Amino acid sequence: MNTRTKHRSVPLSSVEIDTSKSYPRRISILGATGSIGESTLDLIGRDPSSYRVVSLTGGHNVTRLAELAVRHHAECAVIADAARYQGLRDALAGTGIEAGAGDEALLDAASRPADWVMAAIVGAAGLKPTLQAVRQGTATALANKECLVSAGAIFMAEVARANTTLLPVDSEHSAALQIMTAVPKERIERLCLTASGGPFRGWSREQMAVAAPEQALNHPNWSMGPKVTIDSATLMNKGLELLEAHHLFSLGPSELDVLTHPQSIVHCLLYLSDGSVLAQMSCPDMRTPIAYSLAWPDRMYAPTERLDLAALGALTFEAPDMERFPALRLAKEVLSAGGSAGTVLNAANEIAVEAFLARRIGFLAIAGLVEATLDGSPDLAMLKPQKVDEVLAIDADARSRARSLLGRFAD
Ligand SMILES: NC(=O)c1ccc[n+]([C@@H]2O[C@H](COP(=O)([O-])OP(=O)(O)OC[C@H]3O[C@@H](n4cnc5c(N)ncnc54)[C@H](OP(=O)(O)O)[C@@H]3O)[C@@H](O)[C@H]2O)c1
Repeated sequence: MNTRTKHRSVPLSSVEIDTSKSYPRRISILGATGSIGESTLDLIGRDPSSYRVVSLTGGHNVTRLAELAVRHHAECAVIADAARYQGLRDALAGTGIEAGAGDEALLDAASRPADWVMAAIVGAAGLKPTLQAVRQGTATALANKECLVSAGAIFMAEVARANTTLLPVDSEHSAALQIMTAVPKERIERLCLTASGGPFRGWSREQMAVAAPEQALNHPNWSMGPKVTIDSATLMNKGLELLEAHHLFSLGPSELDVLTHPQSIVHCLLYLSDGSVLAQMSCPDMRTPIAYSLAWPDRMYAPTERLDLAALGALTFEAPDMERFPALRLAKEVLSAGGSAGTVLNAANEIAVEAFLARRIGFLAIAGLVEATLDGSPDLAMLKPQKVDEVLAIDADARSRARSLLGRFAD
C-alpha cells in the first residue's frame, strides 16, 4: 500500500472567483500583442459584455497594441520599449485610452485593480510584471513559463503569500490541473507531459545541423510565438515544462515524465496508485486552455475544432530521443540539480534562441550553448536566491556568459 503523506500543492486554489458578482470581469493582458494575448482577446471579443479590459501591454508592436486597445476599449495601453512612447501616444490620441511606456509603466499596468490577468510576456522579461499582478492578489493565468523556470521557488512563495489563484495556461499544465482536481493528491504516482516532437521529430542530427530558422518555426500542430516554437523544435520547451510542473504541482524529478505524442491530442497523463491513468484531450488550439483559465471555476464556450477520434483513427506515443534532442536531457539534469540551475538554463536558452533566429548559430548549437553555459557555472545547486533581484543578477550573469561563448558556436 502506498502510505505517502507528502503534501502536494495543486495551485489553483485558494481564492474562488465569485462569478455571480463580478461580471463584467475586469481583465488585463500582459503580452497582448503576442500569440497567447491575441488568442485571449479573441475569446473576450466574442462576449464583450462579460468583460471590461483594464490594461493591455506589448513589447515593441505599437500599431497592433493601439489597434487592440481601441477595439477592446482598454483603460490603458503600455509598451515596454520606452523609445516607442510617442508613437503609442500618437496612435491613441483622441481615444481616451491612457498610454504608458517602459518598465515602471508595465508594473503600473500589472498593478491596476483587475479580477484576472493573463501573464503572456515572453521570457524572463515577464517575471517582474507577473509577480506584480500576483502580489496584487489578481487571479493570474500564467502562460509565461520562463518565470517559473527561472524563479519558481520565489514565484510560488509569492503566490502563497498573496493567496492568489494561479491558473497555468500551458496546455499540458492546464490539462494536469483539470485532472488533478478530481483525484486525491496523495494517490498521484506520476505526471507525464506529452510532447509533439516538433518539426524535427524524425530528423537525423546531420539534418538538424543545417536546419534553417524557417524550418524550425514550421511547427506541425501549434501556432505560437517564435521563442516557444523554437523551444518546441529543440524539445527545450518540454524541459521547461517539466521545471514548471515541478513548481506548480510540487512533484519531484522521479514523479515527472515526458512522452512524445505527435498528434498533440492528449496533453497530459496522470498515473494513479490504483493503476488508473487519466488523460485530458482536445484539439491543439491554445484557446481551449485559455478558456479554461478564463472561465475558471466555470466552463465557457471556445470556438475551437471539436475532437473527432474516429477521423483521427490512431493516437501514437513514443519515448523521446534525448540523444538527438539533448535540450530535454539538460532540463532534466537541471530539474535534479535544483538551486539556480533553472535560472541559468533559461537565460542561456533565451540567448541561444535569439542567436539562432538571427542566424548567428546553427540549430544544434542552441543546446550546445546552453550546456556550455551551465558547465561554466559551478555550484548552481547551492545557489538559492531569496529575492527576485538576486535571481535577475544570476540571470544577467548567465546571459553575459552565454553571449561570450557565442563565438565558439558561430556558424
Ligand atoms: N503561444 C503558445 O501557444 C504558448 C503556449 C504555452 C506557453 N506559452 C508561453 O507564453 C509566453 C508567450 O508566448 P507567445 O507565443 O504568445 O509569445 P509571442 O507571440 O512572442 O508574444 C510575446 C509577447 O510578449 C511581448 N514582449 C516581448 N518582449 C517583451 C519585453 N521585453 N517586455 C515586455 N513585453 C515583451 C510581445 O510584445 P511585441 O510583440 O509587441 O514585441 C508580445 O506581446 C511565452 O513564455 C511562451 O513560452 C505560449
